[in-house]
Amino acid sequence: MCYKSLNYKHDRLSSADSLDKGLEFYELMSRRRSIRSFSDEKMNIKLLETAVRTAGTAPSGANKQPWRFVIVESPEIKREIRSAAEKEEKESYERRMPQSWLDDLAPLGTDWHKEFLEYAPYLIVVFKIDYLKEGTDLKKHYYVNESVGIATGILLAALHKMGLATLTHTPSPMNFLQKILDRPSNEKPYLLIPVGYPAKDAVVPDIKKKDIHEIMLVV
Ligand SMILES: Cc1cc2nc3c(=O)[nH]c(=O)nc-3n(C[C@H](O)[C@H](O)[C@H](O)COP(=O)(O)O)c2cc1C
Repeated sequence: MCYKSLNYKHDRLSSADSLDKGLEFYELMSRRRSIRSFSDEKMNIKLLETAVRTAGTAPSGANKQPWRFVIVESPEIKREIRSAAEKEEKESYERRMPQSWLDDLAPLGTDWHKEFLEYAPYLIVVFKIDYLKEGTDLKKHYYVNESVGIATGILLAALHKMGLATLTHTPSPMNFLQKILDRPSNEKPYLLIPVGYPAKDAVVPDIKKKDIHEIMLVV
């Protein structure tokens, strides 16, 4: 089967307009920060639907779109997720992480307490789908990590553009999310993203991003 071809509609910008738009987007994205202290202020779930819709425009290996975004609104489920995440994180911080990892995390001031999993109005749990089950057949997906990573990047950018705060959280191991959210065995938890508004007294570590010369090379 071959898809029919469509004419691609391209909005051609002048070089100056391209640069203006690029710089505007850079300024916006440079103000995104990971937030670890959320207010419990409610937000319209339509905002999340729009962000997930935007994430769903991402490119993916063979267009398999190997992702699922589960929105957690229920206070009981959020509490259950917090409790399971803190159990794993306590074990990780106290026993599983090597000293070098703890040393790298120390300046960020993180520890095993994850209050934000309860107070943020929503959690988005991103799942990656490695394969589809069709009867007894398993249909493999391609470049799943790359595809879901790109979709999640677009999701984070969309949420930030809408004025919402996020944290990219990876309690480890995360398989408790599959169980709590009752997802099938081909859906694996990928990231846990609390979303909402920052607490009034939210602070962020004074980190720096690498300079352009450190991350870009022209050959
Ligand atoms: C894949 C990934 C996993 C992360 N996991 C955690 C986490 O479990 N807990 C946490 O507090 N921050 C986590 N972070 C956030 C990073 O610490 C943060 O992005 C980094 O310090 C840069 O800060 P910024 O996001 O404010 O620019 C994670 C970020 C990424 C991309």
